[in-house]
Amino acid sequence: MEPRLLVTFLVALTFSPFVQSLVRHYKLSVVLKNTTKLCTTKSIVIVNGQFPGPTLYAREDDTVVVRVTNHVKYNVTIHWHGIKQIQTGWADGPAYVTQCPIQPGQSFVYNFTITGQRGTLLWHAHITWLRATVHGAIVILPKRGIPYPFPKPDKEKIIILGEWWKSDVEAVINQASISGLPPNISDAHTINGHPGQVPGCTSQGYTLHVESGKTYLLRIINAALNDELFFKIAGHKLTVVEADASYVKPFEIDTIFLSPGQTTNVLLTSNQIVGKYLIAVTPFMDAPIGFDNVTSFATLRYKNTRQPYPKTILTTIPALNATPLTFHFIDSLRSLNSKDYPTRVPLTVDHSLFFVITVGLNPCDTCLQGIKLVSAINNITFVMPTTSLLEAHYYKIKGAFTDDFPAYPPVAFNYTGTQPANIQTNNGTRLYRLSFNSTVQIVLQGTAMIAPENHPFHLHGYNFFVVGQGLGNFDPLKDPLSFNLVDPVERNTIGVPNAGWVAIRFRADNPGIWFLHCHLEVHTTWGLKMAFIVDNGNGPNETLPPPPNDLPRC
Ligand SMILES: *[C@@H]1O[C@H](CO)[C@@H](O)[C@H](O)[C@H]1NC(C)=O
Ligand SMILES: *[C@@H]1O[C@H](CO)[C@@H](O)[C@H](O)[C@H]1NC(C)=O
Ligand SMILES: *[C@@H]1O[C@H](CO)[C@@H](O)[C@H](O)[C@H]1NC(C)=O
Ligand SMILES: *[C@@H]1O[C@H](CO)[C@@H](O)[C@H](O)[C@H]1NC(C)=O
Ligand SMILES: *[C@@H]1O[C@H](CO)[C@@H](O)[C@H](O)[C@H]1NC(C)=O
Ligand SMILES: *[C@@H]1O[C@H](CO)[C@@H](O)[C@H](O)[C@H]1NC(C)=O
Ligand SMILES: *[C@@H]1O[C@H](CO)[C@@H](O)[C@H](O)[C@H]1NC(C)=O
Ligand SMILES: *[C@@H]1O[C@H](CO)[C@@H](O)[C@H](O)[C@H]1NC(C)=O
Ligand SMILES: *[C@@H]1O[C@H](CO)[C@@H](O)[C@H](O)[C@H]1NC(C)=O
Ligand SMILES: *[C@@H]1O[C@H](CO)[C@@H](O)[C@H](O)[C@H]1NC(C)=O
Repeated sequence: MEPRLLVTFLVALTFSPFVQSLVRHYKLSVVLKNTTKLCTTKSIVIVNGQFPGPTLYAREDDTVVVRVTNHVKYNVTIHWHGIKQIQTGWADGPAYVTQCPIQPGQSFVYNFTITGQRGTLLWHAHITWLRATVHGAIVILPKRGIPYPFPKPDKEKIIILGEWWKSDVEAVINQASISGLPPNISDAHTINGHPGQVPGCTSQGYTLHVESGKTYLLRIINAALNDELFFKIAGHKLTVVEADASYVKPFEIDTIFLSPGQTTNVLLTSNQIVGKYLIAVTPFMDAPIGFDNVTSFATLRYKNTRQPYPKTILTTIPALNATPLTFHFIDSLRSLNSKDYPTRVPLTVDHSLFFVITVGLNPCDTCLQGIKLVSAINNITFVMPTTSLLEAHYYKIKGAFTDDFPAYPPVAFNYTGTQPANIQTNNGTRLYRLSFNSTVQIVLQGTAMIAPENHPFHLHGYNFFVVGQGLGNFDPLKDPLSFNLVDPVERNTIGVPNAGWVAIRFRADNPGIWFLHCHLEVHTTWGLKMAFIVDNGNGPNETLPPPPNDLPRC
């Protein structure tokens, strides 16, 4: 790991025994640094000289004030992935959605309060492909004096999974955008910044040090750009207790599964024979698509005074296409729905949306083969504006977007059957408007267009409840009968199964502009994204405040 620099960290205390929340100040400097990882020397964009970047710690109800300064040649924004940003839409971070980018030499202060969530999230750059190296953990502790709803661990560890290219990542996506072809796949998966053993190139792996008989809370984050990942430790079971900063009913499992943007907290008890155990991080892909299939390894090492160690205990590596393992993990997730942590899933639906996800090919004169890969929701390939959508909405500037995003696909077809003859898409900066406090159901339907694939969808500004999922075409009459409206898992990112569908619900009680997109960065680039406008309600508590004075300009 790169040498750690000190994160500027100040806490403003309020001296009242009743005031529990604090204001936590952080400074993040986006800088360029040379690295020699994976047999190549290249410059990477990182934060405070660290890869992964510094962890932000806060308690539920704290206000977090982060000054981000851009010292690199690229435009930058930072997204606090999964933070609900209640009435602080200006601090959400996606470029050209809630803000113009922080240009070279500029700073912006992100200011938000963490309400009603606790667990692990991540922050990452939200512009081009910079998040490959610009990311870090957010740890949200419960309010002071409130215990975890599971046995208190002896220690906590953060584990960030990433994706590593030997080449410059911005060059990779620029090349793909010009050619119209898929971008080059990555060369390795990282565990806390260590690529581990990669064919043709050795590098040191990460070691997770434990003491015998203790329990650890592992806060695991998938910060990869394009790869869904399995995580497994030889000889040890993991007890899952939280996902995307929402508690879940605890369950024991061998292998956990994380899509890019997802986080999971697990309890690990070091109850095996003192020794070394392999940790495996394997990509998942159940479609005929080229991908980085390299498994990354780390070591769980028990503290031991007697040397030498026995040899490392190995584990079976999940198959690259182990779809049943993904379902086993996903189906096990249930929200707590207890007195202290009720599950407030909307029981009625004001807006019932059916979003069909496709990949297509559009004409492109300048591209290598005269065509370019695109992706669409309801046949709309989202076109990024050159100004901030939230500013256009707030100042009522005409022309930046329209609010006519279709609730249904223009034509119905057998989504998981043979693809339509015409796979061109329409395009536009079209948004969907929701009135304050309305309830929304979105059924995200995967298709077999070009290549069927699992798409992890991320919604900004809200958590949603995953009320149902299945294979094939969603049946609007039959499938809702088996929806879970009692203890569905609450998340911010959910995989739409390959050749299947997932149904989510949320209550639109946070005014602003909220991005919904595939969290495989390659698909976001191709246009697999849209946004919601959530109108103000009544009074100041239901209204988006004016923008901060230092909001970057375009
Ligand atoms: C990285 O290395 C190059 C070539 O060795 C050098 O010119 C450059 O100044 C270095 N950059 C940083 C940020 O250290
Ligand atoms: C953060 O926002 C709060 C609430 O709007 C405000 O009172 C405070 O002054 C802001 N802090 C900074 C450093 O901008
Ligand atoms: C992408 O891969 C191709 C084929 O290996 C290579 O020629 C090209 O230089 C790579 N692009 C980048 C940006 O690394
Ligand atoms: C990984 O992909 C390469 C081609 O990119 C292939 O040669 C190799 O057999 C694959 N490995 C596994 C384990 O599937
Ligand atoms: C859709 O296509 C699949 C795969 O070809 C087929 O199994 C299924 O029966 C089709 N469904 C309908 C409603 O035609
Ligand atoms: C999508 O839009 C394009 C361009 O208007 C059209 O040619 C195509 O038929 C549409 N496809 C579907 C599946 O609606
Ligand atoms: C959107 O579609 C129009 C009409 O097909 C096309 O001329 C334009 O280039 C497209 N815009 C983008 C950004 O793809
Ligand atoms: C939103 O609607 C629900 C259900 O009608 C209601 O209980 C709640 O008070 C409303 N919230 C606000 C902030 O208006
Ligand atoms: C607005 O929110 C504040 C803080 O949560 C609360 O004290 C106040 O009563 C609310 N006002 C209204 C009109 O709901
Ligand atoms: C950075 O953002 C500004 C404002 O949107 C834009 O004018 C400029 O072209 C961007 N620079 C780069 C290198 O993308």
